[in-house]
Amino acid sequence: MNSVRLESEDGVPLAVALSERVHWVGALDPNLRTFDIILKTANGTSYNAYVIRGSEGVAVIDTVKEGFANDFFARLESVADYSEIKVIVLNHLEPDHTGALPELMKRAPQAQLFISQKAQSMLKGLLKQDELSFTPVLTGDKVSLGDRSLEFLHTPYLHWPDTQCTYAPEEAMLFSGDVFGCHFCDNRLYNDKVGDFRFSFEYYYAHIMRPFKEYVVRALELIEPLPLKLIAPTHGPILRDRPQHYIQRYRQLSSPALHNELRPNQKTLLIFYISSYGNTRRMAEAIYQGAMQVEDVRVSLYDLEGGEVSPFVDLIEEADGLVLGTPTINGDAVKPIWDLLSSLTVVNLKNKLGGVFGSYGWTGEGVRLVEDRLRGLKLRVPIQGLRVKLIPTDDEILECKAFGLELAQELTGARESRVINFADL
Ligand code: FEO
Repeated sequence: MNSVRLESEDGVPLAVALSERVHWVGALDPNLRTFDIILKTANGTSYNAYVIRGSEGVAVIDTVKEGFANDFFARLESVADYSEIKVIVLNHLEPDHTGALPELMKRAPQAQLFISQKAQSMLKGLLKQDELSFTPVLTGDKVSLGDRSLEFLHTPYLHWPDTQCTYAPEEAMLFSGDVFGCHFCDNRLYNDKVGDFRFSFEYYYAHIMRPFKEYVVRALELIEPLPLKLIAPTHGPILRDRPQHYIQRYRQLSSPALHNELRPNQKTLLIFYISSYGNTRRMAEAIYQGAMQVEDVRVSLYDLEGGEVSPFVDLIEEADGLVLGTPTINGDAVKPIWDLLSSLTVVNLKNKLGGVFGSYGWTGEGVRLVEDRLRGLKLRVPIQGLRVKLIPTDDEILECKAFGLELAQELTGARESRVINFADL
């Protein structure tokens, strides 16, 4: 039988035992279709919270979204008295996991709150209480419940600065917060019982964790050595069947896909353009030729009109430099450029090289607007964007080649520094 008993016969929510000492006390939200404005979910989500019982007290790990507090408290009451709660752990302070916290703190005022070091200011902002007692913890810190204990792993930016994971060594269970989670609601709870959630797992990683790959890798260094029987995330199925499989998948998803394609020390520069009458294209080709003069820079040229955005996002994620060419139409850069830029929020662009160019007819604002956006996305844009009025002349084509050369040299560190004239900016 596949079903898991979540309620009593008269409909009262019940906790679900993950082991003799650990219970799920979360809530299901099958009707949710959009999470945090940006994430779709075809069958809802769950807000998973857990209780672990030691010989000297009970710990509650995470809570639920405020509107689901009744389910959470009913499940909690089915396995523990409030007076037994010694510890409350918050792995992550986003409201879908802290909605029931204020009420829990009222019902169990003796409980000590454990949060990550980076969660302190967020907690104060969340609870708006002057007198707030909590213990900030870092990797290696532990709390004892007698014959059970909890160890904290500092895993920041997965996906907020405050995030941490909590490990119960005697149970070999990892309470991972949003890490290894997904928006998938299924009342069978366990990964070996629920429907096929592989798409949700990958989708969640792509939208929530992918911008923080370097932090995922650091977290995996802490998680991979742990003996594990089960991973208990705050959303989606509880991973008791082959938990290591999900850790390995995070490792794969967070590893560069292109590293075997490049020579040691080789840099990559991607030039994307879109062109109405061929003028921005001519500029792009000249920039491409200029950049190709620099050895150890692998230069690529793409017409946005002929490509899908998604594979370009993958390329850009692993490139060292990004150059965009856009005409100006009605005082703006054109939609395919903005579409590409809006898709880049799922990847980390910090400190990549950026450059912009384009042909224009009247005023040419598009190049400046895209430069501003690149800076907003934390790329460095050290060379002023190149604009050409209508058809590039032979001299302007040479300027484009020089622009490409400078950009490529910037990547290799060969570009000579120059004095910036403010009048040119
Ligand atoms: Fe599930 Fe980031 O909250």
